[in-house]
Amino acid sequence: MSFTVAIDGPAAAGKGTISRAVADHFGFAHLDTGLLYRAVGARMLDGTDPAEAAETLTQETLARGDLRTPEVAQAASKVAAMPEVRAALVDFQRAFAARAGGAVLDGRDIGTVICPEAAAKLFVTASDTVRAERRYRELADKGVETTFDEVLADTRERDTRDSARAAAPLRPAEDAVVLDTSQMSIEEAVAAAIGAIEAAR
Ligand code: C5P
Repeated sequence: MSFTVAIDGPAAAGKGTISRAVADHFGFAHLDTGLLYRAVGARMLDGTDPAEAAETLTQETLARGDLRTPEVAQAASKVAAMPEVRAALVDFQRAFAARAGGAVLDGRDIGTVICPEAAAKLFVTASDTVRAERRYRELADKGVETTFDEVLADTRERDTRDSARAAAPLRPAEDAVVLDTSQMSIEEAVAAAIGAIEAAR
């Protein structure tokens, strides 16, 4: 039987870390759906039409090493507002969600659009300054040259675009458990997520 966990939320709220830990804990497969939009964004920056890029996504593109840069993140959020790009990625995500053995999908519209029937839904969030601080440290650790203010402006711009778009805007599903990680350690956030999923099992 399939068991789908939907984890949505704004940029750098801790979705990725929580999703990986949850998938590990329950032995579920994990799909970072942001990576799909980042791959399409990266191809748009290379000059490919975004809709065509979404229709022809390959494992090779998804494995590109440059998908975590701030430039690609901004491009991802631009292509993610295009209904034809979103439509081209639906089947792949739903097939992943339905796999036997359980699946965790993290993104922006998993609980609202991709898997409205998901067994467990979490909306992971944190204040924008906390999220920018975390992302800034992550980028600095990787040697990316940037400033906190730049990362904060970037995070806010992406949040605004993701929330204001007409196609599958970022918002918590009505039945999602909201997890504000602003004051939580990673361990606390993971434990809270596991607790919420256990309750839905
Ligand atoms: O999660 P991540 O920051 O990697 O996502 C990059 C961008 O992809 C987001 O800013 C958002 O615009 C888009 N996205 C989306 N729907 C998803 C996952 C990501 O629109 N399910």
